[in-house]
Formats: sequence, structure tokens, C-alpha cells
Amino acid sequence: MTRDAEPHEKAVDLFAYFAALSEVSERFVASEALQLIRGAAEAGVLGAFSQATTVAMAAKDLNRDESHLTDLCAALRSHGVLMSDDGVHFTLHSAWAMLVRPGGHQPLEVLMELSGTRGRMLRSIARGEHSGWAGDTRERFNYAIAVSPDPWSPATVAAFSASMQTNPEVVALLNSGARYLELGCGVAGNMCTLLQAFPNVRAVGVEMASDLADEAQRRAHALGIADRLDIVCADATTFSRPNSFDIVFWSQMFFPAASRRAALAVSLQSLRPGGLIWSPAFDQTAVHKEPLSKTACDLVLDRVIHGSWGVPHREPEELRAELEDAGFVGAYVLDRPGSKVVLGHRPVD
Ligand SMILES: C[S@@+](CC[C@H](N)C(=O)[O-])C[C@H]1O[C@@H](n2cnc3c(N)ncnc32)[C@H](O)[C@@H]1O
Repeated sequence: MTRDAEPHEKAVDLFAYFAALSEVSERFVASEALQLIRGAAEAGVLGAFSQATTVAMAAKDLNRDESHLTDLCAALRSHGVLMSDDGVHFTLHSAWAMLVRPGGHQPLEVLMELSGTRGRMLRSIARGEHSGWAGDTRERFNYAIAVSPDPWSPATVAAFSASMQTNPEVVALLNSGARYLELGCGVAGNMCTLLQAFPNVRAVGVEMASDLADEAQRRAHALGIADRLDIVCADATTFSRPNSFDIVFWSQMFFPAASRRAALAVSLQSLRPGGLIWSPAFDQTAVHKEPLSKTACDLVLDRVIHGSWGVPHREPEELRAELEDAGFVGAYVLDRPGSKVVLGHRPVD
């Protein structure tokens, strides 16, 4: 018997094989369908159906072959992107209509780009080839843009302002012209949004990646807020402006274990006595509940990505303890819709 013959003798039962394939095929189909939706969005096909219209009309407007567009629309319909009551007029499903509309949290193309970036990152992490946050600068740039609020969106600015109202202490500080520091500001979507929502605030952002710091600076100029926003391209652990700020925002989800203690020491020292630290945390509750919900499935992927950068997974309670360990007092977890934030104070000397 030759070695070549071996695989045939051990051949699997093809019925079992196809049964196994159909059990997992949903994953392949979802990934292919997303590419189809992305192409349709890029070519204006989703936009063409923001009002109910026929395929023939859309084909004329888009200068597309009608029979190809008919197949495309049928596929988009079966994947829940388009709907039709009469099989003739098609319109976007309400969820997609919302995402396609300008002025949301992020434009759809940015979300699609993020999904591609995360997919490539996850693949190389799974292969053991990931090169960390500083590795591929193009992917990092896409990621930083997409995880940051879109500061050109009036809805984002309004939502930011509304979300702050849940914390009277923070809103009072911001209204009265707080001096605000963000450690790890990325492309400054957060700060550019905050500065528009609270016109008395002056802010400093510290970012070690120079491409992101440059983009933050460019945005500040484009939005006309550069006179209130100072971007410092540096390692936050070496930043030194003691007693200069009322609020520090710490982007802890991007700070690897080795830099955290020093970043917290800088936060403490940068605040005036009694000043406030504010840091977002992933709400990990869903990850511990079997079977995993959709939210939990997203979160476990976040954990893989952030973990690959050396960032420890912190439950909000653990982050609270980390802040107290670093010398902050009265730290507590604030529950906000869809997110958790941990706050604490520099002791009054
Ligand atoms: C992507 S931002 C978070 C989003 C940001 N809040 C916004 O609104 O765009 C987090 C940033 O922290 C930065 N970072 C991590 N460790 C740092 C350090 N030691 N010094 C300065 N920046 C750091 C990363 O380069 C990353 O760009």
C-alpha cells in the first residue's frame, strides 16, 4: 500500500461532511454578504433605495445593467438589507436606512472599513503574527478613526452633551470651563466632540502615535477649535504639567499593562487636588453568560484584539480598584446606556 492511498481509506462520510459544513456555513455566508453590502453601499445602490423605488428606476439612475441589479437586489433583500411589500418596489430596511443616513455616530463606510480592519487584525492575531498597536500604521489609523466619535456629526455632539447630563459633577465642571486632559487621545474624536458641546472647555490631548496626533491637530483646525485644543505627541507616561487640570480622561482600553501605573501617576499629578479622573471600561458582564449573546460575541473579539496589544481585561470593578491603588479616592462605576465609566478623585491635600 502506498501512502497516497491512505487518505482514501480514511475518507470521511460525505453526508456527515456536508452536514458539518451546513452547520457552520452561516459564518462564510455572513462574511460574503458583508462584502456584497459594502460594494452596494460604495456604488450608491443602498442610497438609491432610501426611498421606495423599482429596480428598473434604480438601474436607470445608477446607469447599471437591470438584470444584474435585479439579482443584486434579490440578494440584498434575502440578507435583510432591502425590503419589498409588492416584490416590485424596494426600500432599505429601517436599520440600514439609519446607518446610511449622514450625521450618525460614524458614516457607514467607516464602519465597513473597521470591520475589514478588525477581520485582518483578528486573522493575523490568530496566526500568532500580530505586531501590536504600533505595528501596521494604516490599520491602526483606520481603527483609531472608526472607534472614535465622528466630531462632524451634529447628532454626535448633541448625544455627547446629553450623555454628560447623567453626571451632575462632570457637567458642572464642563459648563464652568474645565481644563481637560486626555491621555491617549488618538485622532481626538472624543475631545473635538466635547469641545463643541461645551464651548468653555480648554483641552490638552496626549497621543504617542504621530500619525494620529497629526490627524487630531488637523481636525481641531478644520473644526475651528484649535485655539482651545493643544495636541501633544508624546508618551503619556512622561507628560508633566502638575496641578493643571480639573478632569483627566484616561483611554485605559489602549494602555498595556507595563504603562498603566505610570499613566495613572501622571493622571493623579496632572489634576488639581479634588480633580476628577474619568475612564471608560468594557462592560464584560455578557461574556460570562452562556450561551453567549450577540454583544458577548463582539466583546470576546474585542478582548482578543486589545489583549494582543498587552492591555489587560478589566472589569469595571477591577478598574475602580486599579484607580484606588494608584491613589485616587472615592472611585465608583457609573452605568451609562451601553457603556460603563469609572470615576475617581485626586485627594484634597
Ligand atoms: C484610539 S485612542 C481612543 C479613542 C479616543 N478617545 C478618541 O476619541 O479618538 C487611544 C490611544 O491611546 C494611545 N496610547 C496608548 N498608550 C499611550 C501612551 N503611553 N502614551 C500616549 N498615548 C498612548 C494609543 O496610541 C491610542 O491611539
